[in-house]
Amino acid sequence: MPDLFTPFDLGDLTLPNRIVMAPMTRNRAPDNVPTELMAEYYRQRATAGLIISEGAAISPQAIGYPGVPGIYSEAQVAGWKRVTDAVHDAGGRMFIQLWHVGRISHPDLQPDGAPPVAPSALRPAGEAMTFEGPKPFVTPRALEIGEIPQIVDQYRQAAVNAKQAGFDGVEIHAANGYLLDQFLRDGTNRRTDAYGGSVENRFRLLGEVVEAVKHIWPEHRIGVRLSPENRFNDIADSNPQVTFEEIVTRLSAITSGYLHVLEGDMTGQSEPAVDYARVRAAYHGPYMVNNGYDLARATDAIASGYADLVSFGRPFIANPDLVERFRRGAPLNEPDEATFYGGGAEGYTDYPFLE
Ligand code: PHB
Repeated sequence: MPDLFTPFDLGDLTLPNRIVMAPMTRNRAPDNVPTELMAEYYRQRATAGLIISEGAAISPQAIGYPGVPGIYSEAQVAGWKRVTDAVHDAGGRMFIQLWHVGRISHPDLQPDGAPPVAPSALRPAGEAMTFEGPKPFVTPRALEIGEIPQIVDQYRQAAVNAKQAGFDGVEIHAANGYLLDQFLRDGTNRRTDAYGGSVENRFRLLGEVVEAVKHIWPEHRIGVRLSPENRFNDIADSNPQVTFEEIVTRLSAITSGYLHVLEGDMTGQSEPAVDYARVRAAYHGPYMVNNGYDLARATDAIASGYADLVSFGRPFIANPDLVERFRRGAPLNEPDEATFYGGGAEGYTDYPFLE
């Protein structure tokens, strides 16, 4: 029976273990350019079977928070190259998460102070994080149908840039209430054109993005992240079970890279109601699970054959040597939430390794 320490092949890329570092926003990229400190942070965590980077904005319009890295400029590509070199020198593998926040932004963060874009002009409840602190979200501008090819092309170009920056693959972020998820779920997508209405139409943008990225990377180097019932960022679907079984079936027909599913609701507003075994059964490729897994639950998920890979977020913040700690059954350092977002080395590169 496989366990967390059994190697796993993503096509021609062999992961030495099934323990994946989940994508996590840390807001330590001033001017949206990756730094040497970020290279050190990821290098420390290179014993992960796979590292998935924090979300990287595919365009200036894709940015939703101060200090998040991008992957659209030459300086960003050069910055990421130092990160991937550090990870590779330490024996690791790293994908970059391609991110567009859609309506989860603010004019303060947008080019020319424009409103953020979204499938429909529906204002999210809550506050955006700006340079001057939290400010209420504004009503986004609904994308014109004629603008959509440009967004798809920004994902394609970001995938090209990711290759230049030395990544081993890309993860398309279609979860957590950001742009692609805003198209997928009917609470945020009220379009009446080919990109709204039926699940087939709501899936169209994600399908086009996957197809565009497939021109740049082989399928096994492309992951997709979904979060069927996460309420984070004020998003919801009227029937997540039906919606996401169909989305995953459609995804399964066009790609065979890993599917990364955040189970349940990060916000704790709703009890898990989706039968994930059915979501899993709808996908023919590698399956990665996430959200609150510990060593025991992760081991069960792999041993039972439910999942191929498990990603860990908070445990990787506080334990650069998480793989070795799991191997030894050693105690874990606890993460300090006060240093999750922004700042410098404190709470970032100063968590202790085992002796
Ligand atoms: C966050 O900044 O808290 C965050 C960013 C991206 C996600 C989820 C959470 O997908």
